[in-house]
Amino acid sequence: MYTGCKINIVANAIDRHLVSDTRNKLALIWEGEPGDMRTFSFFALNREVSKFGNVLKALGAKKGDVITIYMPQIPELIIAMLACAKIGAAHSVIYGGFSVEALAERISDAKSNILVTADGGFRRGKPTDLKNIANEAMRRSATILSCVVVKRTGEECFMESDRDFWYHDLMSMPIASAKCETEVMDAEDTLFILYTSGTTGKPKGLVHTHGGYTVYTSTTFRYVFDYQPEDRWWCAADPGWITGHSYIVYAPMINGATTILYEGAPNYPYPNRWWQMIEKYGINILYTSPTAIRGLMRFGSSWAERHDLSSLRLLGSVGEPINPEAWKWYYEVIGQKRCPIMDTWWQTETGGFMITPLPITPLKPGSATKPFFGNEIDVVDESGKSVKSGEEGNLVIKNPWPGMARTIMGDPEQYIDKYWKQYKKQGWYLAGDSAKIDEAGYVWIIGRIDDVLKVSGYRLGSAEIESALVSHPAVTEAAAIGLPDKLKGNIIHATVILAQGISGSPELENELKSHVNNEIGPIAKPAFIVFADSLPKTRSGKIMRRIIKAKVLGEDVGDLTTLED
Ligand code: WT7
Repeated sequence: MYTGCKINIVANAIDRHLVSDTRNKLALIWEGEPGDMRTFSFFALNREVSKFGNVLKALGAKKGDVITIYMPQIPELIIAMLACAKIGAAHSVIYGGFSVEALAERISDAKSNILVTADGGFRRGKPTDLKNIANEAMRRSATILSCVVVKRTGEECFMESDRDFWYHDLMSMPIASAKCETEVMDAEDTLFILYTSGTTGKPKGLVHTHGGYTVYTSTTFRYVFDYQPEDRWWCAADPGWITGHSYIVYAPMINGATTILYEGAPNYPYPNRWWQMIEKYGINILYTSPTAIRGLMRFGSSWAERHDLSSLRLLGSVGEPINPEAWKWYYEVIGQKRCPIMDTWWQTETGGFMITPLPITPLKPGSATKPFFGNEIDVVDESGKSVKSGEEGNLVIKNPWPGMARTIMGDPEQYIDKYWKQYKKQGWYLAGDSAKIDEAGYVWIIGRIDDVLKVSGYRLGSAEIESALVSHPAVTEAAAIGLPDKLKGNIIHATVILAQGISGSPELENELKSHVNNEIGPIAKPAFIVFADSLPKTRSGKIMRRIIKAKVLGEDVGDLTTLED
């Protein structure tokens, strides 16, 4: 904690560069999927952020408010985030791939009065329909008083008068002055909330603060990726997730780095899109996920080989354990055996890298190697005793660190319960992952120990998928599990119990899949839905997802004597 200290992350990410040589350096290079491109120097970024900060104030935003941002991957997403931080409002960015219910629920939880969105974005050559999703979400949640809409696709969308305003109209009004004070914040004031999936159906809004998050993201970035002032850095994540918050937006900007943002799909129009970007912009460091690497690997090496990737110096991986084939391909074909791979283990909750190599660390493919400076990490049994090397156990963090999430918005008890209760006596943080530590002290992450799934690196709760299914009138109960998948890491398998008088059919199966797609988003769409008469439950009524999984995979289901049914 940095209690009593004063700071604003924007003073570090923008303001201080305006009085140095960094002022005219590119802060952001953006490429849209159709091939359009925009760049912003720190000077230009400051102008846009200041103007939008004033727009938000004119719409009534003030220090302490939570402003919801639901955008495609365009520069205005970053401008909106920074503008919120600058005026002291917290941002809550909702991933643009989420759909109506996911958005509505997060707007309501945060009690947001302002929504910043766009008419859509481009994905695989097609415009997405963000504003119409936002309209339906605003109808369901009812807290939004003003909605700012960036025109990106030019597609028709419904604008409610007195509530919805075009971004470009507001930005050309006198209210959008280019002079905007950066609000002085207490270091412990909220910078943003970011929703992530847990074991309950309701997503948790984790709270990150101006002070600790500034220190932790910028330091981890600088050391782990050996940042040099002439580097061009590309974190190919979506700004709507913690990876993007920390390592597309804040950490690079605090370091005065040039950060890259790309709007669309990695394989559109062809599977060389990313490699073309690296060549075109002379990118030095690429940070991405195993699922993206596997996705591109399946098109073969020739797409990468036709591009000059010699600018690359370092590579990074995040989101799930990287399998040896993907590691080898990434290392040999993309990094040309020249670029070490920084496999960084961390979480939405940790703000920044926790277990990670440095460029000088000898690597073992599939291991995130060792704790970052200052972190004491261990793998322990249920009682807190360190397990023997090579044995599996609970991953714990034994020390506090600057970037840790401070609480769950509106639910401080759940925060204590989830992360701090199990090892309360020792005061350790329970990460929710199982792991092993080998004889050399290298950490090997195995996966989640709770009912959290990692699908294509995205984090989803079984309970969220289940509540989306149950919100369909034909379903009374559901159980969602993850099944191993070569490409996505996991795919979703749902067992549903139908309401009386309704029988399962392939049509209903498809209808339920698209229902989940429409409520949460395409990432949550089950690959399989099976109809059943009952679910295995404990006597206290808890669904035993472990048993369903063992059964589906044809494994031993273990001892069933304590089950109700
Ligand atoms: C979970 C956190 C933090 C950025 C993206 C994910 C898994 C994350 C690794 C890695 C193995 C990893 C863990 C963790 N995970 N990085 N390098 N090796 N597993 O953030 O959505 O909050 O998910 O992702 O299971 O608990 P998140």
